Amino acid sequence: MRPIAVTVNGKRCEADVEPRQLLVYFLREQLGLTGTTVGCDTSSCGSCTVLLDGESVKSCTGLAVQADGRAVTTIEALASNGELSPVQEAFHVHHGLQCGYCTPGMIMATVSLLGENPNPSEEEIRRALEGNLCRCTGYTNIVKAVRAAASAA
Ligand code: FES
Ligand code: FES
Repeated sequence: MRPIAVTVNGKRCEADVEPRQLLVYFLREQLGLTGTTVGCDTSSCGSCTVLLDGESVKSCTGLAVQADGRAVTTIEALASNGELSPVQEAFHVHHGLQCGYCTPGMIMATVSLLGENPNPSEEEIRRALEGNLCRCTGYTNIVKAVRAAASAA
C-alpha cells in the first residue's frame, strides 16, 4: 500500500492505495464517488472521464498514485446547493442522454472543452467528444446540449 493525498472536489483526501489501483476505482470504491462510471475499463468509452488538474482524463487509464498531490474534479462537484451547473442543465433541457450511463463522462469532457473553447463549432464539439462513446447513440441531442451550454455561458 502507498499513502497518497489528493484534492478531490476541493477536499483533501488522504488514503492508502495499492500501487496498481486505477484512479476510477479509488474514486468509486474508496471515496464512494460513484457518479464516475466504468463502461469499458480499457480506455475506449470515456464514461470515466474526470478532470485532473483541470484537464479531462479517462480515469480508468491512470493510477490513483499518479493523482498524488494533484486535484481531481468529478461530476459530483458540478451542482451546488441543489442547482445544476450550466452544462448539466443544458443536458437536461436538451435531453442529451438516454440511459445516462455515458452522461457523467460526456459532461466532464464538455466542461473541459468549454474551458478551453467557450464557443465551439459543431465540428469542434464532435471532435472533442470523439473519445466519449454513447451506446444509446444520443449524439444529436448531446451536441445540441453542448451548443446550448456554450451559449448560456
Ligand atoms: S471506462 Fe474508462 S474509458 Fe471506458
Ligand atoms: S445515454 Fe446511454 S450510453 Fe449514452
